[in-house]
Amino acid sequence: MTTTTEQSLWLDTTPDRPRYPVLAGRRRSKVAVIGGGIAGLTTALLLARRGLEVTVLEAGRVGHGVSGNNTAKVTALQSSMYSTLERRHSGAVAARYATAATAGVELVAELAAGIDCDLHRAPAATFAYTTAELDTVRAEAEAAGRAGLPVRWVDQLELPFPTYGAVQLTEQIVMHPAKYLSGLAAAVTAAGGQIFEGSRVRDVSVTAPYRIRTSGGTIEAEHVVVATHYPILDRGLFFARLEAERSYCVATRLATGVPPRDLVISAGSPSWSISHHGEHLIVGGQSHPAGDRGVDHERYDRLTEFARAHFDVAEITHRWSAQDPKAYDALPMVGTYLPGAEKLWVASGFAKWGLAMGAVAGQILADRIAGADNPHADLFSPHRISLSSVPTLLRQNVKVAADLVGDRLVPPDRAAPETIALDTARVLPDGLGSKKGVYRDKSGMVHAVSLRCTHLGCLLRFNGAERSWDCPCHGSRFDVDGTVLEGPATRPLDRRDP
Ligand SMILES: Cc1cc2nc3c(=O)[nH]c(=O)nc-3n(C[C@H](O)[C@H](O)[C@H](O)COP(=O)(O)OP(=O)(O)OC[C@H]3O[C@@H](n4cnc5c(N)ncnc54)[C@H](O)[C@@H]3O)c2cc1C
Ligand code: FES
Repeated sequence: MTTTTEQSLWLDTTPDRPRYPVLAGRRRSKVAVIGGGIAGLTTALLLARRGLEVTVLEAGRVGHGVSGNNTAKVTALQSSMYSTLERRHSGAVAARYATAATAGVELVAELAAGIDCDLHRAPAATFAYTTAELDTVRAEAEAAGRAGLPVRWVDQLELPFPTYGAVQLTEQIVMHPAKYLSGLAAAVTAAGGQIFEGSRVRDVSVTAPYRIRTSGGTIEAEHVVVATHYPILDRGLFFARLEAERSYCVATRLATGVPPRDLVISAGSPSWSISHHGEHLIVGGQSHPAGDRGVDHERYDRLTEFARAHFDVAEITHRWSAQDPKAYDALPMVGTYLPGAEKLWVASGFAKWGLAMGAVAGQILADRIAGADNPHADLFSPHRISLSSVPTLLRQNVKVAADLVGDRLVPPDRAAPETIALDTARVLPDGLGSKKGVYRDKSGMVHAVSLRCTHLGCLLRFNGAERSWDCPCHGSRFDVDGTVLEGPATRPLDRRDP
């Protein structure tokens, strides 16, 4: 029997590379980019190549965020994006998005020249897995065509199971995203930029020049780019407009046959996303709002069942999950953090399509910081107002309000920590009038932490699929010992006595 690696196929198969240093002491830089994912590194590289002094601050390791934990499709055809944009905005917005997304795909192709990242062209498709999904796929085919993408209708994709029609766009890209990100980082330093890893930013001063503080040092910068996937600064009310959604992936090795050539996603809910890398078939899906109740191993089980039902699977080699914020009106948010704050920038809201759109964001921000025009800048301005999306905005905020108070009303368990089953968590009273999260690991060791999220105070819930404490309000995640795994939180949880 083989063991499944609990890490993305991408991070597991990226060759070792030198670590970048931890920030220490005081420094200055013209531009500081917070976050070493595709949005941050693309911005940094384009600025460094223009001769600007740029420093990247990464909490963990570059490319280990969502950008190293996805299904690796770099495509302008993005599920049912164009019909959604027509409905929520207009045909003109959908057409501008198509132009931007296509530019994003080509920018990745251009920057990847010289990076060994297994990039190749492949068709992307959105397909009907059931007859009920057919109308959505037809609508997407029409909307994508009107938006100017050279899509075509395909009755049956080259898949080993029946489908009910698909919209297809050729000449898209699949690559090894972690190798690509590693190459981007090397290109940043080769162009004169600096990168610091293990340097989580705790706060940024309110006025320019900005003072950016990590636990080990401080940087003073004229421009700051917040590319932390969920924006970490509590100004600008991004947390009221972005909802983080978590999804799961498994990579498999097939006993017979080869993975499909097309990069496909089904149009329904649940949606099934299929991708490939060499001999590996990748299946993704099982999305839910970050911090949902009752998340457990079943998410992976369902993906495995889907893969086994349709392919001759020899083994599940890897499994991983990640989350990405989505804006209430479906467009990414790229531009100034606050209206009129021309030196504090943000890139977020890629809604699980950030490999193409994160590259677009990098181009927009690099152009604007360098004082150049960018044709896509106003489309993605974080300060746009979408009246037709107000119901989604209200729903998101009602949910956050309910999550903020709801779990406080649920009485805690009364179990003694030593009676908790191995690899299980319980919510217990902390003796301070609140609740603590207690996890007993596989060796029997008990870890106890405050369940008050250090972002804005919502109560955390246990994620049994990843063994983490996750926040239902804006998606911060913490390890069982309280370490921050994902923001917007920047501070660890308080420890409690078991
Ligand atoms: C399961 C899944 C599958 C996906 N598949 C696809 C796909 O096939 N195609 C596609 O286009 N998109 C896909 N996406 C989405 C895509 O991966 C993301 O949109 C994109 O990678 C986001 O890039 P980013 O730079 O914004 O974030 P990240 O890559 O997460 O980078 C942000 C970085 O900021 C760092 N950071 C956070 N807080 C701090 C702090 N306080 N200080 C310093 N650093 C900090 C993090 O450590 C991280 O490295 C998928 C997403 C998911 C969840
Ligand atoms: S992430 Fe905002 S309160 Fe937890």
